[in-house]
Amino acid sequence: MAKKKMTVLDFKKYMQEGRRFTCVTAYDYTTASIVNDSDTDIILVGDSLGMTMLGYNTTVGVTMEDMIHHIRPVVKGAPDTFIMGDMPFGSYQEGPQQAIRNACRMLAETNCDCIKLEGGGSVAPTIRALVDVGIPVCAHIGLTPQSATSVGGFKVQGGTPEGAKKLILDAKAVEAAGAFAMVLECVPSVVAQAVQAAISIPVLGIGAGPELPCQVLIFHDMMDMYGDFKPKFVKQFAHIRAEMVGALNAFHTETADGAFPTPEFSFNKQVEIPPLED
Ligand code: KIV
Repeated sequence: MAKKKMTVLDFKKYMQEGRRFTCVTAYDYTTASIVNDSDTDIILVGDSLGMTMLGYNTTVGVTMEDMIHHIRPVVKGAPDTFIMGDMPFGSYQEGPQQAIRNACRMLAETNCDCIKLEGGGSVAPTIRALVDVGIPVCAHIGLTPQSATSVGGFKVQGGTPEGAKKLILDAKAVEAAGAFAMVLECVPSVVAQAVQAAISIPVLGIGAGPELPCQVLIFHDMMDMYGDFKPKFVKQFAHIRAEMVGALNAFHTETADGAFPTPEFSFNKQVEIPPLED
C-alpha cells in the first residue's frame, strides 16, 4: 500500500501526537524512488549535493540551476514523500525580493513541497516575506554549512551558554516569522532539547541528539557510500560502498575469467550468418 504523503500541517500534528518521523536527502530519480518505497516521511534535496553529487568541498558553489536540475527528478521519483528544496548560497541573501523570486522559481519549476533556507534572526524578515506570499519555509539553524567558513568550519554549535541562548533566540525568531519547521544541525543534545522546548514548531535534528520529533540524515552518510568519511552523529545503517565495490570486482573477475556472460544472460536464438559478398 502506498504511504500517505505528509503535508506542511502534519509536521506540527505529528509532533503533538508524539510521533517520530524521518528525513533523508536524495538528489536523483532512482534514489528518490527507493526512499519513496521506504517509510521515510521527508526527502530533502539539500545543497549538500555540491559534495555528494558534484565533488565540491563545500555547498557554496551550488547554483539555482543545480538545485532545480536535481529536485525535478526527485519529485518524479517520490510522489508519496514530502519534498523539501534547499535554497542555495546566493539565492536569498540579498533579501526578501530575491528570495521570493528564487523560491517561486524553485517551486514552480520543480513542484517541490516547500523550500528550506539557512539562518536565524537575521533571515527572519526574509522568511516572513516568503510566508506572506504563500511559500512554506523550513528554517535551518545551528551549523549552517553555507556560512561554515565564517564560524571556523564544520563545528558543533551552541556549545557555550551564550551560544545556546543565541540558538534559542534564533529558533524563536524563525518561528515568529512563520517557518513551519526548523532543521537544527550539530548542537549538543541538551541544547537541542532546550530549543525544542522554547518553540511550538518541530525541530528536525541532524547531529542534535535523540529528544527531537524528527531525525535527518544524508543518504550517502547513512548508507556508508563515502568509505572513509563519517561524522560522529552518523549511524551507518548499511555499507553500500563496500557492497558496490564487491559487485564491480565480481563483474570484472567473471569477465576476465570468461565466466560472464553465460547463456542465461545472452540472446541464444540461432541465426544463420550468410556469406559476406566482396
Ligand atoms: O544540504 C543538506 O543536505 C542539508 C542537511 C545537512 C540538513 O542542509
